[in-house]
Amino acid sequence: MRTNYCGLIDEQYLDQTVTVKGWVHRRRDHGGVIFIDLRDREGTVQVVIDPDTPEAFAAADASRSEFVLSITGRVRRRPEGTENPKMVSGKIEILGKEIEVLNAAATPPFPIDEENISENVRLTHRVMDLRRPQMQHNLRLRYQVAMGVRRYLDAQGFIDIETPVLTRSTPEGARDYLVPSRVHPGEFFALPQSPQLFKQLLMVAGFDRYYQITKCFRDEDLRADRQPEFTQIDLETSFLGENEIMDITEGMAKQVFQDALGVDLGEFPRMPFREAMFRYGSDKPDLRVSLQFTELTDVMKSEEFKVFRAAADLKDGRVVALRVPKGAKLSRKDIDEYTKFVGIYGAKGLAYIKVNDVSNISNGEDSGLQSPIVKFLSEGCLKTIIERTGAENGDLIFFGADKAKTVNEAIGALRVKIGHEHGTADGYFVDEWKPLWVVDFPMFEYDEENQRFAAMHHPFTSPKQGHEDLMESDPENCLARAYDMVLNGWEIGGGSIRIHRADIQEKVFAALNITPEEQQEKFGFLLDNLKYGAPPHGGLAFGLDRLVTLMAGAESIRDVIAFPKTQRAQCLLTNAPNAVDDKQLRELGLRLRQKAAESKEA
Ligand code: AMO
Ligand code: AMP
Repeated sequence: MRTNYCGLIDEQYLDQTVTVKGWVHRRRDHGGVIFIDLRDREGTVQVVIDPDTPEAFAAADASRSEFVLSITGRVRRRPEGTENPKMVSGKIEILGKEIEVLNAAATPPFPIDEENISENVRLTHRVMDLRRPQMQHNLRLRYQVAMGVRRYLDAQGFIDIETPVLTRSTPEGARDYLVPSRVHPGEFFALPQSPQLFKQLLMVAGFDRYYQITKCFRDEDLRADRQPEFTQIDLETSFLGENEIMDITEGMAKQVFQDALGVDLGEFPRMPFREAMFRYGSDKPDLRVSLQFTELTDVMKSEEFKVFRAAADLKDGRVVALRVPKGAKLSRKDIDEYTKFVGIYGAKGLAYIKVNDVSNISNGEDSGLQSPIVKFLSEGCLKTIIERTGAENGDLIFFGADKAKTVNEAIGALRVKIGHEHGTADGYFVDEWKPLWVVDFPMFEYDEENQRFAAMHHPFTSPKQGHEDLMESDPENCLARAYDMVLNGWEIGGGSIRIHRADIQEKVFAALNITPEEQQEKFGFLLDNLKYGAPPHGGLAFGLDRLVTLMAGAESIRDVIAFPKTQRAQCLLTNAPNAVDDKQLRELGLRLRQKAAESKEA
């Protein structure tokens, strides 16, 4: 039987005989002696096999990468100079006496310790990929986080209650994944975008504190921080206000960081949505980067320069500056690259001023400000720009002018990019954990595409006290009792106080242009139950995948999910989704308008 995990054998086992089982990580033939690094989930151990033990030697000789072996031998000290201080087992090796080949392995598609493998190859051969120590680490960290969450919430009196996966549509703003019903031809279940309505109904049912670590499904455009199925730490409470809910969930985040990483996150600052947009152009600001926007919309309303003036005159226009300390050293090529970068977000250009000499502010030839645009701006304006940005000699100032949405997205992304690329050297990036709460979100946002207001969080979010009437009279200025937890520029959680009165819920639906008939049809079960004494309630959901991604220092949430989907929402391991045969379709009462292959061509 196995006596030890490979990766955990250290000097305390010197001179003992151990049996280890695992995979051949590396095998080296040193002319007469064979070295095998045997790997299991805890790490690797070096095994030496010499020809004195001919049977073991023959087995070692025949073994290849990823063969599964059982090895028995004596633990001895490694010869001086060959220790590896980075490994637990780095000071010892096993002198192998008996080797049993438990299974052979075909040549793996890539060496397990190869770093540069394309993600498609990794996802196609996900099982091999999961053998890599980094992936083993990530998934164990994920487990630790989930266990920490359960311990914390259990101690706070939360109970885990499961909610259905086959259900009705819950509007979280994405497209639904649908499941056709065989028993009711032509009818469909929707996979939940979140357990939102069920957890509210559990509050109406009197459970007081609910949580669940559960899958959510959203058919949306995928990015590094999005998966079509992802996991939420979902919770809901009765009779608590937003401050109490934020305290509980902040406590949870802190506990998890303390337990898993030994990090103290400190107290989370709270920032109103409006301030976040004003200063950072984002509702999830990365506060590791200290650069901030400087507002210039007011100044540009009286300038001639068309690029800025036109944006300032738009109803929803904005002109901002972004001061980059020591940025004057950026080359033409750097600036061209940043111009291309902001183009991704729809910016039509990226004006800039190099600040050479603040004692010489003019729009003339010999100005201390160097830029293709200074000649178009008044001296008063240039002075205001320098004053407001606080720019010093050697700085560079970038400008964004457009619809506020475009400026916020483009210059917001530029702020983070420059901060990451130059901030460490030039003193405007700190490599620390920077959590915050963003609060006072608007109730609604205008959906340009469909020309109507949509719920910014979801339609069950309560308006701020005193803002109920604004829903109709001034929807743009109606604030919600919603809050997001943000960490290093990622939204890791979001929640709100809900509407617990049917009449207010009906008003919100009306503000969202959902007719009474539609309300009854889609949400009748909610409205009806709100009438039977629903307690005031609210909650929050964390994105577990995102939380673990940040904690693991991974680049994408796919690196903390055992079997994720690609950016194109496919599983390369199983080749899902896949075509099904006609019989299955017939049973479901379905006929395809287009075959899979045809629709791919089209
Ligand atoms: P929300 O839609 O903000 O709120 O989701 C909560 C958190 O889930 C994570 N998340 C995702 N993670 C990975 N892939 C995705 N596609 C994805 N979408 C969201 C984010 C987000 O903060 N029912 C409400 C919560 C509530 O009000 O209690 C909800 O689902 O980290
Ligand atoms: P143009 O007049 O289009 O040549 O632009 C003059 C300068 O303004 C160039 O440096 C452009 O990159 C920049 N620019 C153009 N449009 C914008 C915009 N919407 N926001 C910021 N800078 C812009």
